[in-house]
Amino acid sequence: MTNLRFAIIGCGRIAKNHVGPLKDSSRAKLVAVCDLKVGLAQTLAAQHGVRAYSNYHQMLAKEKVDVVSILTPSGMHPTHALDVIETYGKHVLVEKPMALSLRDLVRMKTAADRKGVKIFPVYQNRYNKAVQRVRRDLMRGALGKVAVGAVRLRWCRGQAYYDRDPWRGTWAMDGGAFTNQGIHYLDLLQYLLGDPETVYARTATRLVDVEVEDTGVGVLSFESGALGSVEVTTAARPADIEASISILSERGTTVLSGIASNQLVTYTLDPEACKTACEDFPDPYGFGHWPFYADVAADLLDGIPHPVGFQEGTRAIRLLNALYRSAEDGLPVEFAKRPASRKLGKPDADLSRLYEAIRP
Ligand SMILES: NC(=O)c1ccc[n+]([C@@H]2O[C@H](COP(=O)([O-])OP(=O)(O)OC[C@H]3O[C@@H](n4cnc5c(N)ncnc54)[C@H](O)[C@@H]3O)[C@@H](O)[C@H]2O)c1
Repeated sequence: MTNLRFAIIGCGRIAKNHVGPLKDSSRAKLVAVCDLKVGLAQTLAAQHGVRAYSNYHQMLAKEKVDVVSILTPSGMHPTHALDVIETYGKHVLVEKPMALSLRDLVRMKTAADRKGVKIFPVYQNRYNKAVQRVRRDLMRGALGKVAVGAVRLRWCRGQAYYDRDPWRGTWAMDGGAFTNQGIHYLDLLQYLLGDPETVYARTATRLVDVEVEDTGVGVLSFESGALGSVEVTTAARPADIEASISILSERGTTVLSGIASNQLVTYTLDPEACKTACEDFPDPYGFGHWPFYADVAADLLDGIPHPVGFQEGTRAIRLLNALYRSAEDGLPVEFAKRPASRKLGKPDADLSRLYEAIRP
């Protein structure tokens, strides 16, 4: 196989960060796009000279495709991925969060193994230069013993944001600030400091009228003995403030900040790195989808395992579930016991119907 052929399901806000890498790649190409809102698919298709569909069953029955990128509402990722895997036997690339419930993660993995295909979860911020620099130093022990790691995500999402689409701000399809916005930074905290042992969280819905939280705070203790704190909110007003991770450790202070932890603003271990390990992002989505797609091609074409494979991608979803379960019960939970939220990803047939693809 010389070139991987991709199709996209879901042509909404994040689609540009998928068509961009495919347009720029010499090893992968886009062949078709699909959206229930056919106008969105047609616009994207016209821009990139590919075919547009409004039903992915029709698209996958007709097109020769190796990988399907699933960019639909979060709560539909398992349904759409399972359909693509079980009916068409294709590899899938799934936007974050690849599933909301732990049960769905198991179903997806079982189906992929049975069909011999792969699932690639998207966590593009792992590729940020600042993140990579700090991770390298942490792994070689250069930062010494860690005392505390803290996530501070303070973004502004008003009622209009949540009212834009029926899926937003729902337990069945989206999750709250921890899930939709926070997942990248929970993942980065785990990528840098490892998995927590215990998790305690409180959540609140303060400035918008939605069923999920717009604000959540968590306290973690890590296997290493370090402590962690996470403060995630979409209730910053009047604008986004930061997506920061700070690590205080034996050999210095590390602060990643900017709109998506894309700037290394304090690095006492090597202050020069603050100049070299920074990127200006045009939006919080950043540039990580480009190397992410290159790694998908390297995995499928060269057999080099993707650095963020399925199992790696489950870690942040397990942490989300632990945070919510703790908040739901008002008690600390043990991460290793895989606590599951009672609300996140709970099926809602009426909402699902809005996003199901009808079999022809
Ligand atoms: N990696 C990131 O930083 C990042 C950023 C934004 C969004 N996302 C994720 O991407 C996903 C989509 O988010 P968005 O903001 O683009 O949402 P969106 O609502 O703008 O787009 C989703 C699109 O999927 C389409 N769709 C739904 N069901 C479909 C079906 N059965 N067949 C074809 N099309 C279907 C909808 O019509 C809609 O146009 C979410 O899971 C979100 O969490 C990730």
